[in-house]
Amino acid sequence: MDDTKNICPPKCLLAIEADTRKIEFKMASEPLVGSLLRTLAASKAKGRFLELGTGTGLSTAWLLDGMCSDSTLVTMDNDQTLLDVAYRHLGSDTRLRIVCEDGDEFVKSLFSSGEKFDFIFADTWAGKYRFIQETLDLLNRHGLYVIDDMLPQPNWPEDHPPKVESLLALLEKRKDFLITKMAWSCGVVICTKI
Ligand SMILES: C[S@@+](CC[C@H](N)C(=O)[O-])C[C@H]1O[C@@H](n2cnc3c(N)ncnc32)[C@H](O)[C@@H]1O
Repeated sequence: MDDTKNICPPKCLLAIEADTRKIEFKMASEPLVGSLLRTLAASKAKGRFLELGTGTGLSTAWLLDGMCSDSTLVTMDNDQTLLDVAYRHLGSDTRLRIVCEDGDEFVKSLFSSGEKFDFIFADTWAGKYRFIQETLDLLNRHGLYVIDDMLPQPNWPEDHPPKVESLLALLEKRKDFLITKMAWSCGVVICTKI
C-alpha cells in the first residue's frame, strides 16, 4: 500500500498551497493529515466543527471537503495575513466562519459561553498545550479531538519534547476519552469522548 497515492485533494488545495509558498508560511499541515481529517469529518453529519490554528486554510479545506452540507466549521488564527489566504479561497463557503483572535482568549470565551462541538482539530498552542482541559470540555459525547505534529519535527525548539510528553500523559489519564496514538505522517492522536 502506498498511502500517498490517489488521495484526491480538494479542488482548491493546489491554489492554497501556491499562496502558502508565496507568503513563506512554514507550518503548513501535511496532505496525509488532511486526508485523515476529511475522512473523519465525513462521519459527523450535522456536526459542529472547531479548528484552532487556521494557518492559510489547508486543513480547513480538507475538513470542509469531508463535511456534509448541514455541518458548520469555526476556524481561528491570530495572523490576519494567513487568514486572508484562507478567506480568499474558502470564504464563500457558507458553512465556514473565520475568526481572527488570540487562541487563549478564543478558547476561554467558547468555554465560558458553554459552546459545544462534535469535532475539534487543535493545531495551535491554545487547545493543545494551553487550555487543554477547557478545550476537551467543549466536546460533545462521541465527539472527536484530533492533534498532529506529535512526532519529533525539525523545527521543534529544545523545550518542546517535554510538552508533548505532558500532553500525551494528560490525554492518557482522561477516563472520558478513548485515544489512539498514530506514529504515522507527522504523528497524529485521535481521541473520542465517551
Ligand atoms: C501549525 S500552524 C496551523 C497550520 C494549519 N492548520 C494548516 O493546515 O496549515 C499553527 C498556527 O497557529 C497560529 N497561532 C500561533 N499563535 C497563536 C495565538 N496565540 N492565537 C491564535 N493563533 C495562533 C499561527 O499563526 C499558525 O497559523
